[in-house]
Amino acid sequence: MRIGPYSLPNNLVVAPMAGVTDRPFRVLCRRLGAGYAVSEMVASNPRLFDTGKSRLRTDHAGEPAPVAVQIAGADPALMAEAARYNVARGAQIIDINMGCPAKKVCNAAAGSALLANEPLVAAIAAAVVRAVDVPVTLKIRTGPHPGARNAVAIARIAESAGIQALTVHGRTRACAFVGAVEYDTIAAVKRAVSIPVIANGDVGAPEVAQAVLAHTGADAVMIGRAAQGRPWIFRETLHYLATGTHLPPPTVAEARALIVEHLADHYAFYGEAAGVRTARKHLGWYTEALAGGDAFRRAMCAAQTTDDQLAVVGRYFDVLAARFHRLPYDPSRYRAPGQFALGTALRAHHGDCSTHTTNGQWDGEALAA
Ligand SMILES: Cc1cc2nc3c(=O)[nH]c(=O)nc-3n(C[C@H](O)[C@H](O)[C@H](O)COP(=O)(O)O)c2cc1C
Repeated sequence: MRIGPYSLPNNLVVAPMAGVTDRPFRVLCRRLGAGYAVSEMVASNPRLFDTGKSRLRTDHAGEPAPVAVQIAGADPALMAEAARYNVARGAQIIDINMGCPAKKVCNAAAGSALLANEPLVAAIAAAVVRAVDVPVTLKIRTGPHPGARNAVAIARIAESAGIQALTVHGRTRACAFVGAVEYDTIAAVKRAVSIPVIANGDVGAPEVAQAVLAHTGADAVMIGRAAQGRPWIFRETLHYLATGTHLPPPTVAEARALIVEHLADHYAFYGEAAGVRTARKHLGWYTEALAGGDAFRRAMCAAQTTDDQLAVVGRYFDVLAARFHRLPYDPSRYRAPGQFALGTALRAHHGDCSTHTTNGQWDGEALAA
């Protein structure tokens, strides 16, 4: 798949997730097979450019090309300025967020709330495309609510405005993270435009990626929550797409080495205190589906320094290595959307999003953190 001048090495994308896909995690996912990564969203309000969080979100040192930065906001002029600001700091692709249901974003009529205002979508897309000489992409949901799935109209507007790729999360804004993803609208979007389309939502296993690619005709799939604590899902999925067979889980020794390297990069990025605090969620996810994970997480909460945290990780993996060669995952405890059965994943969902809540759901708290 191509985005402007960039030819991506494969069709697997790690989703932008505020509070999760920071630079260390994006680099790790790329290393483990993701062909493309998009940054956590950066606010378009210039008063927020100089906060500590924004500074970290605009630090792309060592990140493999193309560096894609997502911007969020509802004012075309401010979005254009944010795009220029981020291109000046290394962004090679600008992604516009119209997919976020979080109150913090939607109350400002940004994120997925914009989908209800097609003229404003057109104005934002055109302003950002005019502002920068790098490719601009757009991430949307299927519409504002199940009664108004206007993703096809939005996709046509985006293409006319010069947007060069489109990601579609197969839920409406009103659905938040509730209910099964609906892939038919993504397929309709793919048929309606000639720019690349990336299908997103509940891709939690290699078979699901393959089925979603086949069902939607999309150029790529984007994986979000299933990569939390399982960044090797990208190489597992690549292997499955190429061979139809499953890679075994990583060995305990390899997982330990990857996690320790992730921690080193994470601590260097955030510093000691913030590094320890923000590493806890990743460590929780890494061990969520593993034996002894509960005791590990209790010990992790008591660890107050990077050295303490590394020592707890070391003890946990010593015990695991004494018993197992490969990570002994309990599949029922995967940190993943849960729809592993293909029938469920591809079930068209035309209801009112009230069937069930997926795990790992996002209420926007990560933005406020
Ligand atoms: C913790 C979290 C943070 C997220 N932050 C963003 C964000 O900053 N920008 C965005 O466009 N989507 C964001 N999303 C939505 C994801 O990019 C993705 O569309 C969604 O999780 C569905 O994919 P999945 O089922 O593979 O997780 C976030 C999701 C989660 C769980």
